[in-house]
Amino acid sequence: MIAIVGTGKVGVATAIHLAVKGLDDLVLIDIVEGLPQGEALDLTHMCTTLDVDVDIIGSNDYKDMTGSDLVLISAGFIRTADMSRLDLLHKNTEVVKTISKAIAEHAPKSNVIMITNPLDVMTYVAYKVTGFERNRVFGFSGLLDVARYKSLIAKELGVAASTVYTTIVGEHGDSMVLLPRFTLVGGMPLTSLLSPEKIAKIIERTKRMGSEIIRLKKWSASHAVGAGAASMAEAVKKDAKAIMPVSTYLDGEYGTSDVCITVPSVLGKNGVEKIIELPLNEEEKAALRRSVNVVKEAIAQVRL
Ligand code: 2OP
Repeated sequence: MIAIVGTGKVGVATAIHLAVKGLDDLVLIDIVEGLPQGEALDLTHMCTTLDVDVDIIGSNDYKDMTGSDLVLISAGFIRTADMSRLDLLHKNTEVVKTISKAIAEHAPKSNVIMITNPLDVMTYVAYKVTGFERNRVFGFSGLLDVARYKSLIAKELGVAASTVYTTIVGEHGDSMVLLPRFTLVGGMPLTSLLSPEKIAKIIERTKRMGSEIIRLKKWSASHAVGAGAASMAEAVKKDAKAIMPVSTYLDGEYGTSDVCITVPSVLGKNGVEKIIELPLNEEEKAALRRSVNVVKEAIAQVRL
């Protein structure tokens, strides 16, 4: 069984993608009475319509996650256009602490995927509070930032986004480190296809895309978040050994430790089974160091 804690727009978008993939039964948990139960009924009928046979239940009780081997956390306050992700820090820390304690009690063998912002700090909080091994608690967002970047590159070049391959390191936030040197379009390096100025523009827009969407639709992004989080869940459930950008606890990798930050990682049934150390150049290393410092400063403000 897969548990999703938090059934706002992001939790429900994630549930839709998980249900359509038919990976496992779902339990939706939220503190708002009636909300997870109502969403569960609606999603059940969606599955019936699509001939997907999974059971979906809703609950206000954390103990109903018992038996889950995977828990996704999408609960918390969302960011408004004038707020940075780090502004959310204190409000969501308390939410994530409560949920992490419940996971440790009711789903002690599970893998945990964090979706709540500020993503890297919340992943760190969940890792510390659950007390789980570091491979079992990791965060979504790299796939979202990469999707935004790929989509802008594809538009600029007039090619399909599916033919762009890339990865990312760093914070899910303004200091994220997009990597043109590790971006291929149909096998060709991006750096040979676009000018440095055009690439810099794409990177800047990618970094601001979360705010751009909030400003336009007056709500945080949810569709791409749900699709990406479900892809991570699928890699874990199917033991795919897929290489994805994942926020994970570093313990010496990339020359840093005691921080959760996105780096490419191998995802399988044991969660983060391997961290890939990209051969970054000096400029990329410096950008990653700056990003790590942003997250570490935020972590230092958190009371665990
Ligand atoms: C985003 O990047 C809000 O972090 C979320 O859209």
